[in-house]
Amino acid sequence: MRRGKFITFEGGEGAGKSTQVALLAERLRGAGIETVITREPGGTALGEAIRDVVLQAEPDPVTELLLFAAARAEHVAKVIRPALEHGTWVVSDRFADSTRVYQGVLAGVPQSLIEAVEAGSVAPTFPDLTLILDIPIGEGQRRTEARGALSRFDAADGEYHERLRQAFRDIARAEPQRCLVIDGTKKPDEIGDEVWRAVETRLLAEG
Ligand code: TYD
Repeated sequence: MRRGKFITFEGGEGAGKSTQVALLAERLRGAGIETVITREPGGTALGEAIRDVVLQAEPDPVTELLLFAAARAEHVAKVIRPALEHGTWVVSDRFADSTRVYQGVLAGVPQSLIEAVEAGSVAPTFPDLTLILDIPIGEGQRRTEARGALSRFDAADGEYHERLRQAFRDIARAEPQRCLVIDGTKKPDEIGDEVWRAVETRLLAEG
């Protein structure tokens, strides 16, 4: 059986990831492709339990890295890998790039540790395509405030958001074959079209 494709959405808070995850899954299903939607932190019952702990407590950065990694290992082993092997496509709202950015670049966990943990919890199940929704500083905050209930990751200052934005762009620059940066200030439908073009040219065309 042909392996499914693994697509992830990344970006700061309020970038519109969940809207695009839903739009893309709808289009894939419309094209006759069996598709699973998932998210991180979360993705499994254990992962959701870890999500509640991590988003409420303020763990030390290394503790936080290991908790996210534990949730991810479970997610990959129980949901993502079996689906891909079954020929199903997987679309995830956040994945390992969030750890590289939030725990690595922003919280300062050494890159060697980030890489070792990633190798142990993710490899060889890396995304085939990662769509990074890029929005200017202030815009994401405006959107998350309008949504109410800021998480502790949302309630940070402008400099933090600028570093976050830059860190995602750096990943895209380092891995252009896997990643695409998309202007998240466009209308959801326009972004959806751009995402679909990327899926067609990068994943469907190659068969
Ligand atoms: P969530 O409510 O899902 O936020 P968003 O809607 O922005 O995706 O909360 C997830 C938060 O967890 C998000 O702010 C980023 C953070 N996070 C990490 O720090 N590391 C990770 O590996 C992941 C997956 C998320």
